[in-house]
Amino acid sequence: MENPYIPFLMRIEDVILETEDRKIKTFVLAFISDKDRNHFAYIPGQFAEVSVFGKGEAPFGMASTPTTPEYLEFSVSTIGVVTGALHSLKKGDTVGVRGPLGNGYPLEKFKGKNLLLIGGGFGFSTLRSLTNYILHDRNRSAFKDLTIIYGARKPGLLLYKDDLAVWRGRHDLNLHLTVDQEAEGWQGHVGLVPTITKTVAPNHQNTFAVVCGPPIMMKFTLPVLKDLGFNDEDILFSLEMRMKCGIGKCGRCNVGSKYVCSDGPVFSQSELAKLTGEAHF
Ligand SMILES: Cc1cc2nc3c(=O)[nH]c(=O)nc-3n(C[C@H](O)[C@H](O)[C@H](O)COP(=O)(O)OP(=O)(O)OC[C@H]3O[C@@H](n4cnc5c(N)ncnc54)[C@H](O)[C@@H]3O)c2cc1C
Ligand code: FES
Repeated sequence: MENPYIPFLMRIEDVILETEDRKIKTFVLAFISDKDRNHFAYIPGQFAEVSVFGKGEAPFGMASTPTTPEYLEFSVSTIGVVTGALHSLKKGDTVGVRGPLGNGYPLEKFKGKNLLLIGGGFGFSTLRSLTNYILHDRNRSAFKDLTIIYGARKPGLLLYKDDLAVWRGRHDLNLHLTVDQEAEGWQGHVGLVPTITKTVAPNHQNTFAVVCGPPIMMKFTLPVLKDLGFNDEDILFSLEMRMKCGIGKCGRCNVGSKYVCSDGPVFSQSELAKLTGEAHF
């Protein structure tokens, strides 16, 4: 059996500066070995541990989709040692990767359902993965209506501008972008994500809501979804606890009796309420 702590190597194919404050970059990584590419079968919502040699490793959700198996993409916000070291790397450099890890979004349960995806910050990365997966020609007919509510403090902090432009042009997706305050030239919503969710008021029937973003955003979105009639089973959150091993061995990331790394990071509100009581953000 292979050692799960040993990363395989990937080459940085491209580095995309996502935000005007230069804090979030997307790293496009190419597999060096065919064997590693074939082993890395993942679904949206899963994550991987990415290592910078000599610095350490950190977990990041896959921003790419399994429908483009040649590359993995990770959108990294620079806040500390590993993320800072990643930001200093260039095209052609090599990083280590362990994964795929975690449960990911329950795609089988999503089939035949409407989906409401609500995101903010780098948490939107796995929702981008899910969106592009659903929009793929091979998959679109398996899912019903797709509504996205995505917010940033200001327009220059929204990620994936090329994707957003493509999504705006599609008729099989309801896209609601929001920024915290009025900005010159901005034509989307203005207001915080929970407020805009209330305004958009998506129908809860036959719908899963998936929420991924800063804890404060998730905390204030939950009561809005409940008021709109969503059941706890149909509200999913993706958690971003601090982690170490990523494979359920070290006990660093528990929520109640579960490990976020191996039982999650995606949990329904009903699971979280049982594990922690109502207050888990
Ligand atoms: C499942 C999962 C998916 C994630 N996906 C992404 C992603 O797509 N993009 C992304 O940019 N980040 C993501 N993160 C968060 C990312 O792993 C951390 O930002 C990273 O580990 C920080 O490493 P560092 O060495 O740069 O920071 P450190 O030097 O270790 O810490 C710097 C500061 O950040 C704080 N910090 C570190 N990790 C976290 C954390 N998880 N939550 C809150 N505060 C923290 C520390 O307390 C410290 O104050 C994800 C985390 C998890 C668990
Ligand atoms: S990070 Fe080690 S158990 Fe989850």
